[in-house]
Amino acid sequence: MEIPQALVSALKNARRVAVLTGAGISAESGIPTFREAQTGLWARYDPAELATPQAFRRNPRLVWEWYQWRRELIAQAEPNPGHLALARMEQHIPDFTLITQNVDGLHRRAGSQNIIELHGNITRTKCSQEHILIDTWEETGEVPPRCPRCRAFLRPDVVWFHESLPADALQEAFEAAKKAQVFLSIGTSAVVQPAASLPLTARQSGAVTVEINPAPTLITESMSFVLTGPAGAVLPELCRQVWGA
Ligand code: OAD
Repeated sequence: MEIPQALVSALKNARRVAVLTGAGISAESGIPTFREAQTGLWARYDPAELATPQAFRRNPRLVWEWYQWRRELIAQAEPNPGHLALARMEQHIPDFTLITQNVDGLHRRAGSQNIIELHGNITRTKCSQEHILIDTWEETGEVPPRCPRCRAFLRPDVVWFHESLPADALQEAFEAAKKAQVFLSIGTSAVVQPAASLPLTARQSGAVTVEINPAPTLITESMSFVLTGPAGAVLPELCRQVWGA
């Protein structure tokens, strides 16, 4: 794939880079995205109907089991060449921020360090009432298990639809977008706010913006560069052409 020379030099000279990733970067690790065809056992469930506080109130067992299924899928998955290329990119850029909407933890497993997890992390568990993290609990067979402190149900430490994002993480993400010289939006359909407005914020603040996605999205037309293809192929090639490795 031919990477435009102007993009190669923008990245080569950049001291501040921010990246936003979505479910698409983990697709090549075998983790289904949200808005494309769902597979297997859960094909008939719409994530938008499971990842909500209302769904959890209505059917806590179903929601817990859906996350349990996703946790198992993630535990078996490995970071792919796209995750690994972003970890390498961080080594070349003095001020590098990786903002992710993913809850799968694969960026950290790939070696990325400065990560903002906007939607939480599926491997952590919290109390559904007190919202404090819980590491251990008694397995009584009840699903979901209960908080050892207050007996409320436990839930994954992720952000659901209709819930607000962690304020600190969101503020840091917007700061990174505003100061970035280059901003990459990778594997996200850019429909879920407020994450979706990060690339446009970067653009308005003067960043060179790049989208990496096999399909067009809502923000494609506003990007300075669009690299059409799967992240697992495009990102290693981009790194090779900019840094030679
Ligand atoms: P989506 O499922 O909405 O979008 C996935 C995007 O990845 C699409 O634009 C695909 O074209 C693209 N894609 C697919 N395969 C790819 C590949 N190999 N390389 C690069 N891109 C690829 O997922 P998100 O945008 O992450 O929120 O969704 C945003 C949020 O909505 C999620 O974090 C989640 C969801 O509801 C919460 O759970 C709060």
